[in-house]
Amino acid sequence: MSSSLDSPTLCRLPRVAIIGAGRVGSTLAQRIAEKNLADVVLLDIVGGMPQGLALDLLEARGIELHNRQIIGTNNYADTSGSQIVVITAGLPRKPGMSRDDLLRTNAKIVVEAAKQAIAYSPHAIFIVVTNPLDVMTYLAWQATGLPRNRIMGMAGVLDSARFETFIALELGVLPADVKAMVLGSHGDLMVPLSRYATVNGIPITELLDAATIERLVTRTRNGGAEIVELMQTGGAFFAPASATSVMVESILLNQSRLLPVAAYLQGEYGLKDVVIGVPCRLGLNGIESILELNLSDSEREALHFSAQSVRKNIQRSPEI
Ligand code: NAI
Ligand code: 2OP
Repeated sequence: MSSSLDSPTLCRLPRVAIIGAGRVGSTLAQRIAEKNLADVVLLDIVGGMPQGLALDLLEARGIELHNRQIIGTNNYADTSGSQIVVITAGLPRKPGMSRDDLLRTNAKIVVEAAKQAIAYSPHAIFIVVTNPLDVMTYLAWQATGLPRNRIMGMAGVLDSARFETFIALELGVLPADVKAMVLGSHGDLMVPLSRYATVNGIPITELLDAATIERLVTRTRNGGAEIVELMQTGGAFFAPASATSVMVESILLNQSRLLPVAAYLQGEYGLKDVVIGVPCRLGLNGIESILELNLSDSEREALHFSAQSVRKNIQRSPEI
């Protein structure tokens, strides 16, 4: 057999490290591999578990028709040279628990994970998923000392997808035809921008009355809790993994998609030194730019209120 310089084994393929191989992490690994985006390293604190998941995912490769490598490990050295690090390590919510109840436990886990991962992948772009999302992203930013374009949180893409789903269900239209954007913190104080939501360009305010829109906004705000209450054991993970994979894809393929992303603000929207969901263009450098929308007074007030609650939780988080 002749050898060729452009043999696939010589190509340097992008690598995504996922810290936390639980439900969100392992589903994200599946999405990334099956979309053929990158090789994946799945890391967890539990011995054997990420290795087993990786083997299971590898055994599906021939059926799913991709050739991505998937490694399971308990050792950060195996994540070396990753282009993207996604942190999903931590506890999920239990019924009746708020995201903020998770603050103390998850702060320790996320800060430790961020420090370890950056040591092996100093050029990586970080995406935090662990809750409470905005606070964890802020703590990871502090722990890594990364420039703000290289660290962000996933929540807005998920919250927007939920809002779009509820609008599509209400109107009986194709979900892909609905476009909406949810800003602010990931929690009860998120800011769904109803007046920007459209069905193929038609504002939803032309299609639904105010009371119906308000009902869908409330359901979006409670989107995570609704699933926790139904499942009783942990929270959502299919849609969260899809939402994260869209961010990974936009960065790796330099797609410049404009997505709601939890970003560190330095004056945008009149907010400073806080992480909160705003529209960002995602490309090879991570957050390529932040779009400042012309918000109405009430939307701006809601965004500031949301930022205030994130700030309070940043102050309450343990010194690590
Ligand atoms: P899970 O419990 O299935 O997985 C968490 C994993 O983290 C477990 O496998 C656990 O062993 C691992 N872990 C714990 N400590 C670790 C450490 N020090 N190092 C490495 N791994 C460690 O939970 P799930 O459902 O995957 O959720 C993960 C996190 O993501 C939760 O905090 C959840 O609230 C959050 N989440 C956030 C969303 C968002 O929109 N930002 C959406 C869905 C979940
Ligand atoms: C969600 O929104 C629990 O934050 C998670 O589903």
